[in-house]
Amino acid sequence: MILPSLEPGTLSLVRAIWSRGLGSRTQIRRLIESGHARVNGTIVRLPGYLVRPNRDLIEFRGRPLPDVGPHLYLAFHKPPGVVSNRRGRGQVILFDVFPKLPRWVFPVGRLDKNTSGLILVTSDGGWSERVAHPDFGVVREYVAELEEPIDDSALQSLRWGIRLGPNLISRPAHVESVNRELRIRIREGKRHQVRKMVRAAGGRLTSLRRTAIGPIQLDGLRECELRNLTPQERDSFLSTPVFE
Ligand code: URA
Repeated sequence: MILPSLEPGTLSLVRAIWSRGLGSRTQIRRLIESGHARVNGTIVRLPGYLVRPNRDLIEFRGRPLPDVGPHLYLAFHKPPGVVSNRRGRGQVILFDVFPKLPRWVFPVGRLDKNTSGLILVTSDGGWSERVAHPDFGVVREYVAELEEPIDDSALQSLRWGIRLGPNLISRPAHVESVNRELRIRIREGKRHQVRKMVRAAGGRLTSLRRTAIGPIQLDGLRECELRNLTPQERDSFLSTPVFE
């Protein structure tokens, strides 16, 4: 079967609205389904309906999509104890500790509540997928502090790949050990990945901190501090598939 090629700039209605920072994808999908979006004057209830934002007139909740200015690309130092989701059910969330920002933003991926360190924050959905998608293999670096050092064979298992569950082995990792500290660089980001790896190696974690994502370093950012990425930092994720 030959599929028709899509005109450049074509994307789903839900994504076109979401990229303007008008809510979460779930909220927007629900509002589209209940008749709050129009394309060229006609109500469209299909979130996956394909649109060309530069040619179609898209209205959401009775108004044309706003021109919201340039996207934001930020690095943030998350302290421990803060939840990285948008909703925390009574817990402190990232947005409680952010300064007021000119656009709706969201975190790229997540960190466990008790993990501190670098988290990227943006308003650009396409960019965030490029950074977070496992196919692009962006390296994340973590520093794990342990109660006691682990032995050499456990260290070697972490490097080669360690069994995390019945059908789950971690991918090879770059691991350095200095006394009670492990510096771990991985390209995968499953839920509780590093905690599970350390536990599987017999280590007892006292703290976990993410120190780098691709070329972006935590260094220089104090807890709760937010900074803009430079254009070079932002674009580095678009040009290089894998960081060493
Ligand atoms: N791995 C973990 O176990 N926790 C995190 O927050 C990030 C990576």
